[in-house]
Amino acid sequence: MTDPSVCSTAAEMVSLSRSWIAEGHTIAVVPTMGALHEGHVALILEAHQRADRVVVTVFVNPTQFDRPTDLDTYPRDLAADLATCAAEGVHAVFAPSVTEVYPEGAVTTVDPGPIAEHLEGEHRPGHFSGVATVVLRLFEIVSPQVAMFGEKDAQQLAVVRSVCEGNGVDIVGVTTVREPDGLARSSRNVHLDPASRQAATALPSALRSVSDAWASGQRAADELRTLGREIIERAGGEVDYLDLVDAATFQPSNPPQRGDLIVAAAWFGGVRLIDNLRLDP
Ligand code: PAF
Repeated sequence: MTDPSVCSTAAEMVSLSRSWIAEGHTIAVVPTMGALHEGHVALILEAHQRADRVVVTVFVNPTQFDRPTDLDTYPRDLAADLATCAAEGVHAVFAPSVTEVYPEGAVTTVDPGPIAEHLEGEHRPGHFSGVATVVLRLFEIVSPQVAMFGEKDAQQLAVVRSVCEGNGVDIVGVTTVREPDGLARSSRNVHLDPASRQAATALPSALRSVSDAWASGQRAADELRTLGREIIERAGGEVDYLDLVDAATFQPSNPPQRGDLIVAAAWFGGVRLIDNLRLDP
């Protein structure tokens, strides 16, 4: 097990990337906000398949948080993250301060357009502009050929694909890692108390039931939405949205078709979780 190089300034990371590129290496980046879990490990494993140098970025990006308490309570543990990266053979960790990523007046803000206006975009104003801006900034610093993103954040993946089109970085989506009871792995799961943790399994169950109903021939989007919402609400969850959308554009899909996504966001005991499932039986 070799410790990764840790870069805390943009200049250090740029210089390391440049030296690797000059030596003929390829670079895969795994952008994260830290609090690494099995879902991130899956991204790192995929990154190793795609390039011979793997960089994990650990940066809790303030511009993508719409609620100050969410930013304040976001789990942070750099020592544990570095240990995970060492165990997974990561070559470098870029863990910058806010001013390294956003030097005064030097970063262009990105507006991802209509793809970012619905669902997460509607419930978290400014969120995707923050995500798109930081991802492009991290790419500028790390100079990767390829970047890994989890499919759990499906709209984020679609937004990143759309804003990165044509910039030479290959965007790879990696399958969601789930707990044995179906709950998607998320850094926010640590905030669930035992009762909410139990109730939260209604989120993947609702997605599965909607998918099963669709597979049995139900094509009315309204009926499918109601079915999913009721399962979450019966478990005590509060639904922000549950919808069926085109996987690339995130526009509502009616009637839903194979390949579309069932996407949902719901609150359990004060913790907001998101998840999705592809209609693809
Ligand atoms: O998915 C995340 O952890 C973040 O949104 C990302 C992509 C690292 C940007 O801050």
